[in-house]
Amino acid sequence: MVEEPMTAITNEVLRRLSGVSGTRAGTISEALVRHLHAFILEVRPSTVEWEQAIRFLTEVGARCTPERQEFILLSDTLGVSTLVDAMNYTPGEEGTESTVLGPFYLSDPPVVANGAVIDGGCLGTPLLVEGTLTDVEGHPLSGVQVDTWQADGDGFYDVQHDGGVRYLRARLESDANGNFRFWSIVPSPYPIPDDGPVGAMLREQGRHPYRPAHVHFRFAHPNIATLVTHIFLAGDPYLDSDAVFGVKDSLIEELDSCSPEEAPEGHQPGRTFARLRRTFVLIPAGYELA
Ligand code: BEZ
Ligand code: FE
Repeated sequence: MVEEPMTAITNEVLRRLSGVSGTRAGTISEALVRHLHAFILEVRPSTVEWEQAIRFLTEVGARCTPERQEFILLSDTLGVSTLVDAMNYTPGEEGTESTVLGPFYLSDPPVVANGAVIDGGCLGTPLLVEGTLTDVEGHPLSGVQVDTWQADGDGFYDVQHDGGVRYLRARLESDANGNFRFWSIVPSPYPIPDDGPVGAMLREQGRHPYRPAHVHFRFAHPNIATLVTHIFLAGDPYLDSDAVFGVKDSLIEELDSCSPEEAPEGHQPGRTFARLRRTFVLIPAGYELA
């Protein structure tokens, strides 16, 4: 039987990969070629459209700097980051769910003590975050490294401003009862950086760039599977249309409104403040891959 010319092209590329067939590199390369060729056969791009596609990817790469990762934004806005996370962190019925890391995580945030104020002087409603870490049987987990980060009242992370000043991000440690606590401000919804090629893609797709208000967390300890997650605020208008597909119902929390006298010892915001209380259930190291 004579092969269709287009099938012949795909088969010839696959034939050249036969030397690595059965290896991880071979599996990835073969699947890439099969799916990419099927995509091209379905979409049938004109030569001009294919040039545009190459230009788009070139612009995504050119937009990347140590402070800005346009490829992460592309992966996030196409739902790929969430898909990869869903396959790599499986907390079962009991564990707290994970969500995307995003591009604003820093591996060397300021180290602070429990109860610290990390608002960097930003304007906004004071927010007291009180977390408890337990294992799946409800035992408190002490000595866990807790990283947190969030946007300021204008929707920007510290790293998006020049100057290298770090605020609204910190590293602390859970205490003997598995508790941690810090003061920040109530976060607002914000647009992901949309002044580059990924923003242009969203507009072309008729989509907005907003993420619902959230606080990021990353919990790490040698005995637990590292959990990267957020807490989203109930009632946010973007919960159903997060630009990066990160929302999970189990991660949405109501804030309590508290009077100044309810502030625990250590810091007095001197005004009405909001409180976020949440228990995070962490799974043992090695159990994240079901
Ligand atoms: C974030 O929540 O920080 C974020 C996640 C994905 C893309 C952009 C920002
Ligand atoms: Fe964020």
